[in-house]
Amino acid sequence: MNAAPVQAAPVDAAGTGGASADSLLTLSAVSRQFGGLKVLQDVNLDIPRGGVFGLIGPNGAGKTTVFNLITGLLSTTSGTIHFDGRDLTGRKPYQITRGGIARTFQNIRIFKEMSLLENVIVGMDAQLGYGPLGWLVGTGAFRREEQRARERAHELLGWVKLEHRAGDMADELSYGEQRKLELARALATNPKLLLLDEPVAGMNSNEKLDLMQQIRSIAARGYTIFMIEHDMRFVMGLCEQIAVLNFGRVIARGGPEQIRNNPEVIEAYLGREDEEPGDGQTGARGAGA
Ligand SMILES: Nc1ncnc2c1ncn2[C@@H]1O[C@H](COP(=O)(O)OP(=O)(O)OP(=O)(O)O)[C@@H](O)[C@H]1O
Ligand SMILES: [Mg+2]
Repeated sequence: MNAAPVQAAPVDAAGTGGASADSLLTLSAVSRQFGGLKVLQDVNLDIPRGGVFGLIGPNGAGKTTVFNLITGLLSTTSGTIHFDGRDLTGRKPYQITRGGIARTFQNIRIFKEMSLLENVIVGMDAQLGYGPLGWLVGTGAFRREEQRARERAHELLGWVKLEHRAGDMADELSYGEQRKLELARALATNPKLLLLDEPVAGMNSNEKLDLMQQIRSIAARGYTIFMIEHDMRFVMGLCEQIAVLNFGRVIARGGPEQIRNNPEVIEAYLGREDEEPGDGQTGARGAGA
C-alpha cells in the first residue's frame, strides 16, 4: 500500500460553519437518522461554484441520502443546508428545483413511453412562461414558447450526443443512453447545480469515456456538478475535489491524488479489493434509492 504523506484537508476544516463567498452549496453539521439508525452524522461539506466535485464511499455510506436531503426529498434531523446564499430548510422539492438544483437518480427515472424530445421538454415545465390558457387556445405566445422549448431540448440532447434519436421512444435506448437522456432532462430545468447519482452505472467503457467528455463540456459551460460515483477512474479523472463518506461521516476531502493516498480512505475500502480507490476499477454497487 502506498504510504505517501497525506495532505487532504482535515475533515472538520472542509466546510464548517456558514457558506464561504465562493461556495455554491454548504452542508453544516448535517445529520439524518432513520429510527435509531444514524445514516449521516455531523456532515460538513462545501461545494465550490463551478467545476466537478465528487462524493465517494462504500455502499450504504449515506451518499444518496446526502442528495435526498439537498433536493428536499428528505429533511435533516439536524444541521442546515445553504444553496446560493439561501437556507433550504423546509423547502419542497419543486421549490428547490426552481431554485436551481437538478438531479439524476441512481435508478433511472425517465418516461419510457415518451420520445427523447418529450422527456426533455417535460423537464422544462418549471421554466415555460405560458399558462394553461395559452395552451388551450394555442396563442402565438404559446407557439413561440413551444418552439423555443423544442429548440432548447434538441440542443440539450446534442450536449449528450443523442440529438439524432430525438424522435425515438426512450425505451428504445440502451441503459447507458437512458442515463444520458436523464442528464439532458435534468439540464432542462436550467440548474446552477447538477447532482448526478452514479452517472456511469451500467455503462460500457466507451460510453463512460464519452460521458466524461460530455460532463467536462457541461462544466465548462458554467454548471456546477456534484457527482456520486463508484467508478474510481471516472471520479479521479473528472473531479477537482472529492469528499469521502464512510458510515455517515466525511473522512477525507481533497484532490484525486490526496484521496488516492489517504490511509483512512484506503482502509474504508479494504476487504473489497475491487473497490480500492487507487486501482481505477468500478467498485461494488448496491441497489440504493
Ligand atoms: N428512507 C430510508 N429509510 C430508512 N433507511 C434508509 C432510507 N434511505 C436510506 N436508508 C439507509 O441509509 C443508509 C445509507 O443509504 P444511502 O442510500 O444513502 O447509501 P449510499 O451511500 O448511497 O449507498 P450505495 O452506494 O449503495 O448507493 C443505508 O443503510 C440505507 O438502508
Ligand atoms: Mg446511493
